[in-house]
Amino acid sequence: MSEYFKHLFTPIELGPIRLRNRIYVTPHATMFASDARDNLPGETLAYYCAERAKGGAALIGGHPMILTGRWPLRATDPRIVVGYRKLASMVHEQGGRCFIELASGGTNVGNDRGVSPFPWPSHPIHALPFTSRELSEEEIEAQVEAYGVAAKLVRESGLDGVDLHGTHGALISEFLSPVMNHRKDRWGGSLENRMRFLEEVIRRIREYVGEEIAVGMRLMGDERFDGGHRPEDAAQVARRLDGRIDWITADQGYSPQQEDWQAVPMYVESGYNLRITTPLKSVLKRTKVGVVGKYVDPTFAESLLASGQADIVAMTRALIADPELPNKAMQGRLSEIRPCIGVLQDCWGRMIRGLPISCTVNPIVSREKDWGVGTLHPAAARKKILVIGGGPAGLEFARVAAERGHKVVVYEKTRKPGGQAPIAAMLPGRENISAIVRWLVDQVRSLGVEVKYGMEVTEDEAVVQFLFEEEKPSAVVIATGSSPIRTGFQPYTMNEVDGWEEPVVCTDQDIWEGRVQAGERVIIADSLSFIEAPGLAEHLGRRGKNVEVVTPLAYTGLETNLYNHWDHLLPRLFSARVKVTPFTWVRRVRGKTVTLYNLYHDSVRQEEVDNLVLITGRRQEDSLYGVFRGMVPEVHLIGDARIGGARIGNALYDAAKLGREI
Ligand SMILES: Cc1cc2nc3c(=O)[nH]c(=O)nc-3n(C[C@H](O)[C@H](O)[C@H](O)COP(=O)(O)O)c2cc1C
Ligand code: SF4
Repeated sequence: MSEYFKHLFTPIELGPIRLRNRIYVTPHATMFASDARDNLPGETLAYYCAERAKGGAALIGGHPMILTGRWPLRATDPRIVVGYRKLASMVHEQGGRCFIELASGGTNVGNDRGVSPFPWPSHPIHALPFTSRELSEEEIEAQVEAYGVAAKLVRESGLDGVDLHGTHGALISEFLSPVMNHRKDRWGGSLENRMRFLEEVIRRIREYVGEEIAVGMRLMGDERFDGGHRPEDAAQVARRLDGRIDWITADQGYSPQQEDWQAVPMYVESGYNLRITTPLKSVLKRTKVGVVGKYVDPTFAESLLASGQADIVAMTRALIADPELPNKAMQGRLSEIRPCIGVLQDCWGRMIRGLPISCTVNPIVSREKDWGVGTLHPAAARKKILVIGGGPAGLEFARVAAERGHKVVVYEKTRKPGGQAPIAAMLPGRENISAIVRWLVDQVRSLGVEVKYGMEVTEDEAVVQFLFEEEKPSAVVIATGSSPIRTGFQPYTMNEVDGWEEPVVCTDQDIWEGRVQAGERVIIADSLSFIEAPGLAEHLGRRGKNVEVVTPLAYTGLETNLYNHWDHLLPRLFSARVKVTPFTWVRRVRGKTVTLYNLYHDSVRQEEVDNLVLITGRRQEDSLYGVFRGMVPEVHLIGDARIGGARIGNALYDAAKLGREI
C-alpha cells in the first residue's frame, strides 16, 4: 500500500470484481469508435483505456454503448465482442478493470429516432427537431431485453461490468423524472412506477449474467428543473437499489439543456456534487458509492475516502490529462502530475462536434499507441537546439526534445514564461490555466533545459551573430507566438475598422499588459466570440466601468457554449452589468466618437467612449524564421508562430510532434 494516500490505494470489491485502488474513470464518449470499420470498438479506444490502466487507474469506463438512438456503437451488435475482447485483455494486462456504459437513447440522442417515456418537446438548437414519441409496452419490453442482451455480450467480451446510464437524459433518467414522465400506466406516476423500468433492466441483466459481471449505475441526482428529480429523490431510488447493484455514482445535468453541469469548466470548484452523493452514502449499506465532479487532486480524493463520503472517486478528466496520475500519486510525485485545467476545449469540445477527443494539455490523447507511456525513444543524434520563445509551444517542445536527450536552451524575451497563457489566466475565474505553465516550467527545469528570460531575439545581425557564438545551435525552433490584429480586420466585413489608428482604440492585450488604462466607458468590438471579450468585459464591469460588447454574431462567447461554459460564464457577465449588442459592428472612429451599425438593418448610433477595444484575432510572429533559414541545418516554426491564434491545445500538439521527430 502507498505510504502517501492510504485510503486511495486500498483495494475494494465491487460485486464480483476487486479493484486495486479507488480511482476510476467514468464512461465518456471518445468518438474513437470510427477508427474501425462499421464503427465497432477499435484499437484507438483499446490503447486509450489500456494507457489509463497502465497509469494505475483501477476501473476504466470505455466509450458508452447505445442501445437505441443515432449514436454509432450498438451494444447489442455481437460484432462488438472482438474489439472489446482486445480492449479487456489490454486493460487486464495492466492490472486494471474495465466496463462499458449501457445507455438507452431517450430524447438526448435524437428525437428523430428518439423515444421517451412521454412525448417530449423538440429542441431545434441541439438538432432535435421533432417531438419524441411515447414508448409502447412492446417497445419498453424490447428496451429491457436489449440491456440483457448487451450484458451477455459484455460478459462474452471479458469486460468486467456495465454502468447503467441513468442520468444526463438517458432513457432510465427520463423514466425516473417527474417532469419528463407523465405516463398514466404502470411506468409513470409514483416513484415506484417511475423506477419500474430501471428495476426491470437490472432484473433482466441479473437474469442473463447473474453475478458474473459487476453492475453499477449513474443516477440523476438533480434535474435542475422546477418539480424535477432532486437529491432527496435520488436518495430514495438508491435506498431501493441497495445491494441489488454494485455501485452508484450520482451527478446532475440534463442533456441538452444542462450539459454545463455534466462536465464542469474551471469556474466550478470540485465537490459540487457532494450535496447529492453524501445523502446516498448514508442510505446505502451494501452498494458502494462513487463520487464524480472535477476531482483532479489526489489529496482531495483521499480526504473524501478518509471521511467516509465515498467508496470510489472518479477522476475522469484528471486522467485524460494525465493517465499516470495514480502511479505518480502513489509514489508521492505530485508535482509531476500534468494538471487538467478544466477548459473542456479539446475533450468535450471535440466530442460535441463529433470529433475524436484530445486534451488541451495532453496531446497524446487518441495517439496512445504511438505516443503513449514508454514510446519516447532517445534521439538518434544528440543536437544542440535553440528555442526562441518560452510560451506553451516552446516549453513543450523543449520538454519532449530534452527527454529524448537533446541539449535545449530557451530564449524568452519577457521576464516570465508562458507567452499568452498568463494573460488567459488573468481572465476572471480562469487562474487555473497557469497550472499548465507551472507544470511545463517544472518539467523543463528538471530535465536540465536552461530558460533565459529577458532575452529578446531580434532580426538585428549583431543579435543573431551573438546567439550563434553563444549557443552554437545545430537547430533553431521559432516559437515566438502571435500578436493581436490591431486594425479590426475580420471576416464579417473583410475590412479594417475605419479610424483604428485613433488613440482611443486598443486591443485586449494592451489592457491586460497595462499599456492602456481603461476609462469609464468602454466598448469591446468582438468578432471572435470566444472567451477574450466576455473575460475582459467581466473584469472591467466588476471595476465599475460601463462596458458594452458589440459583435457581428448573435452573442459574445458563442464558442464557449461548446465547452459547457454558459451556465457558469453568463451569470458572471450579467452580474458585472455588461451589455451585449449582437449583429453590430464599428463603422468608424473619430476622436472619442464611435459609430456603430447593425449588420442586418440600417440602424446607426454614435457613442462617446474612453476605449474601443478591438478583439478580432491574432497574426503569426514568424519573421525570425526567414532570418535563421539557411544559417543552420534545421529551422522549425511551431505553435502560434506557425498557426496564428492557436489555442494552447494546438500549440502543444504542434510542439510535441516536432519534439518527437527532431
Ligand atoms: C469528452 C467527454 C465525454 C463524456 N461523455 C459521457 C457519456 O457519454 N456518458 C456519460 O455518462 N458521461 C459522459 N461524460 C461525463 C464524464 O463521465 C464525467 O461524469 C465528467 O467528465 C465529470 O467528471 P470529471 O470532472 O472527473 O471529468 C463525458 C465527459 C467528457 C469530458
Ligand atoms: S481538454 Fe481541458 S478539461 Fe478536458 S481533460 Fe484536457 S485539460 Fe481537462
